[in-house]
Amino acid sequence: MKKEPRKLVIKTKIILFLILFISNKAISASSFPIEESFQIFHPEYSEQGMVASQEKTASEIGAKILKQGGNAVDAAVAVGYALAVTLPKAGNIGGGGFMLVWLNKEKKSIVINYREKAPFAATKDMFLDKKGRVNVDEITTSYNGAGVPGTVYGLNLALKKYGTLPLKKVMEPAINLARNGITVTHALSISLTESMKHLQKNEESTRIFFKKNKEPYNPGETLYQKDLANTLEEIANKGTDAFYRGSIAKKIVEDVKTHKGIMTLKDLQDYKAIEMSPIEGTYNGFTVLSVPPPSSGGVTLIEILNILENYDFKKIPFRSAEYFHILSEAMNFAYYDRNNSLGDPDFVKNPIEKLISKKYAKEIFQKIDLKNHIPSEIVQKEGIRRESNQDGNTTHYSVVDKFGNMVSNTYTLNYYYGNGKTAKGTGILLNNEMDDFTAKVGAANSFGLVQGAKNSIEPQKRPLSSMTPTILLNSKKEAILATGAPGGSRIITQSLLMITGFIDYQKNIASLASYPRFHRQLWPDKFYYEDGIAYETLEVLKKMGHDIERVNPYGSLQTVQKNIENRFLGSSDPRSEGDAAVGVW
Ligand code: DON
Repeated sequence: MKKEPRKLVIKTKIILFLILFISNKAISASSFPIEESFQIFHPEYSEQGMVASQEKTASEIGAKILKQGGNAVDAAVAVGYALAVTLPKAGNIGGGGFMLVWLNKEKKSIVINYREKAPFAATKDMFLDKKGRVNVDEITTSYNGAGVPGTVYGLNLALKKYGTLPLKKVMEPAINLARNGITVTHALSISLTESMKHLQKNEESTRIFFKKNKEPYNPGETLYQKDLANTLEEIANKGTDAFYRGSIAKKIVEDVKTHKGIMTLKDLQDYKAIEMSPIEGTYNGFTVLSVPPPSSGGVTLIEILNILENYDFKKIPFRSAEYFHILSEAMNFAYYDRNNSLGDPDFVKNPIEKLISKKYAKEIFQKIDLKNHIPSEIVQKEGIRRESNQDGNTTHYSVVDKFGNMVSNTYTLNYYYGNGKTAKGTGILLNNEMDDFTAKVGAANSFGLVQGAKNSIEPQKRPLSSMTPTILLNSKKEAILATGAPGGSRIITQSLLMITGFIDYQKNIASLASYPRFHRQLWPDKFYYEDGIAYETLEVLKKMGHDIERVNPYGSLQTVQKNIENRFLGSSDPRSEGDAAVGVW
């Protein structure tokens, strides 16, 4: 039977309306479809919670705490202590970091800033030699390279205020691992071998992390950390004061003094981790939470996202030359602000409001040329380059519990195994976070960052960081994703690539962790990329004026997600030791 034309028109209109309604709904920030089939990489799934860290034993410990009824903060603190044993290159109690917490019932987010501080005796020029050059060895491998550690204060504060379990309970697994030994994995064996020179400059590190004949442990052998076990037990029994005022503090300070370091008992006694409000921004209908100065992470991430919001990515193919160009140009402008405008808010005024405003982002958007790279010397007139050493190490982990609480935590010793020094009798590796300060205005640090006077060394100041633990909320203000990574100055852009890929291209979190990365940071004026970007695309970028440089795989995104069916997903970066996202059933 022939249909009446009028009816056909109405029917077509209804169908069109439905298609529009559904597709519009599909891209709204509250019900968010992520492509999950036909992908090479897939996240882990679970029903009751998820932990993604860089090391499987630690993730399992976190998952077990969740299974036993602990919340995300309980699990996060347990993972933090466990990684200090199982991932000694970056997990730590001798360093510092930032924890971002989402409390689902209260719909509230908090940052715990447990970044290290410069000791009281620190001075602006303490790392300059007689000729006024930065003494790289002194800042990265001496006892003075260490800032006053914040990890124990930070983890314990988080547990006390937002956890539900006793400290002893969450520390028990870490104590047992340190005392009874861990089976050395292939990754740990390689990492100790690679860091042999760094660690063997110190007798105590040599004794603990190498065999009697000074050879590295082979995979399958057992690494015991008895001093660390005693230290952790002391903290579990006596709390934060054991580390900052008790016998542990005394041992640290004695060792520092023996090696002509400046950190004193007063430095430890006066250390406090502090609670702060997160940096908050919006991106295409989502809310982005991250950490404020003294980390540059949140401000820089949101500044870049605000610039990108001016583009219509539906018209820009994923990973096309145009995509790489736009994102990397936005990175360059934001890193200019990062390097020149930010420092510890206890010491300097940060123009945060301006930097994360949509208006400012629009001004930058108008400067970006779609056809040509803007050379860094135009964005910033002066800048000195030092060869960038991206070998440092940090680690990130993310946790989501069945109540919808999330924790996004990044902490670090800065380099692999920090300054390489283990404080005698404690098993604690010290950090070399002082290198995150501007040792000299205009000179680059280990991550090639050329930073300004706002980040100069002052007693009790915290060095500017790039750590970017991030949580994403949907339009109903529910936390749907927590992510973050190590990677020095390249931390911020890893979180960025996860967030934009998730929102603008609806890729799954495991795929996003696996795509070859790229990065710009103003200085050096280079487009850094991991192997895997098409040759033709790179040729287009070169024609646009990008000086491209292939770099080794870097970073390690650790991401958890709560999807629209309230299932939990986790992804642990394939660049790390293996699949370390562990779900709870
Ligand atoms: O806080 C920072 O930005 C640096 N200390 C992080 C160091 C790092 O991620 C090294 N990892 N590759």
